[in-house]
Amino acid sequence: MPTRISRDRSLPLDLFADQAVFDLELRQIWQQDWVFAGPLDAVAERGDYFPATIGSQPVIVVRDSDLVVRALANVCSHRGMPLVDAPGNAARFPCPYHAWTYTNDGQLLSVPYTTPDEVDNEAHRLESFRCEVWHALVFVSLNPDVEPIAERLKVLEPYVRPMAIDRLHHDLEGTGAEVWHANWKAVYANAVDSYSNFRVHAETIEPYSPTDAGYYLAGSAHGSVMGGESFERADHLVVALPPSFVAVIYPDAMLWQAFTPIGVDRTAVRIGLASERPTDGTSVHLPGWDAAFVDEDRAIVERLQSNARVRSRPGTLTSLERPLADFHDYLRWRLTDTAPAAPFIAAAPGERPEL
Ligand code: FES
Ligand SMILES: [Fe+2]
Repeated sequence: MPTRISRDRSLPLDLFADQAVFDLELRQIWQQDWVFAGPLDAVAERGDYFPATIGSQPVIVVRDSDLVVRALANVCSHRGMPLVDAPGNAARFPCPYHAWTYTNDGQLLSVPYTTPDEVDNEAHRLESFRCEVWHALVFVSLNPDVEPIAERLKVLEPYVRPMAIDRLHHDLEGTGAEVWHANWKAVYANAVDSYSNFRVHAETIEPYSPTDAGYYLAGSAHGSVMGGESFERADHLVVALPPSFVAVIYPDAMLWQAFTPIGVDRTAVRIGLASERPTDGTSVHLPGWDAAFVDEDRAIVERLQSNARVRSRPGTLTSLERPLADFHDYLRWRLTDTAPAAPFIAAAPGERPEL
């Protein structure tokens, strides 16, 4: 089925509703690849932690007592209970069920009501996963052999580095999560798509950031970077890292969306904001900011999902939809083992492509 994905056509609609394809995506994408977990700010201090879901695997991202940022299974090694359900700060994780207690680097420390040789503590460490930080963003992979994320994203690096997003403060309280009734691929494709701005965001985004002012800079199956204007000034980048993360980066702020598949037609969408000054979630310094655009995106992808089980023929992608071609390459690479094409560079960092 995924063999029907091509660079120059829209995704076959039935791929938004096919349980077998969804299961394949969980196995070959979400359980193998780098997935965005959360901002490094959320584990700024020793002992800070937050729960995250990588594919369908619950994890705890924690800065342990030695200050190492780790991803541990949020699954008790006794009978499988989730250990934490909200962000917090702790040196130990006592299980809510029978109080088996782990240090924040995953070692099993104590087991109530047992003799010393009854449970092998070493064999009951929490499972630990690959965890790397890219520009103060924490990514986790369940695949121990995955290539380092910096290697994976090196084509994007010269575009992203000058934006210095590491210095921004993430608004942890203001990060919202919603469940959208749509397949994750439809949600991701919509997030990287600026072609729809004039139609879907006619009042919210288009007046200051017009559809035809966006341009493709570089990308491949590994990710894409686009440039755009606000108020006729080229000022922002859109960075798309399949399968889980899309960010709009301004000179002094960043707006990100992160995706977690819940079911074939359900996706958890997190919206986060980072800016130069710490905020309390009430003040937003983005040009022309209007939070209504999120509801507009949700409405349009849920409407698309309503057609996921009808007959259709994939339509031609226009030149404004180049980031979608990269996403389709990504899907083909992960799902059908087709080697990804070489990166395409349309313009050097700081420049614009020739028309
Ligand atoms: S399931 Fe965690 S202590 Fe029993
Ligand atoms: Fe949109």
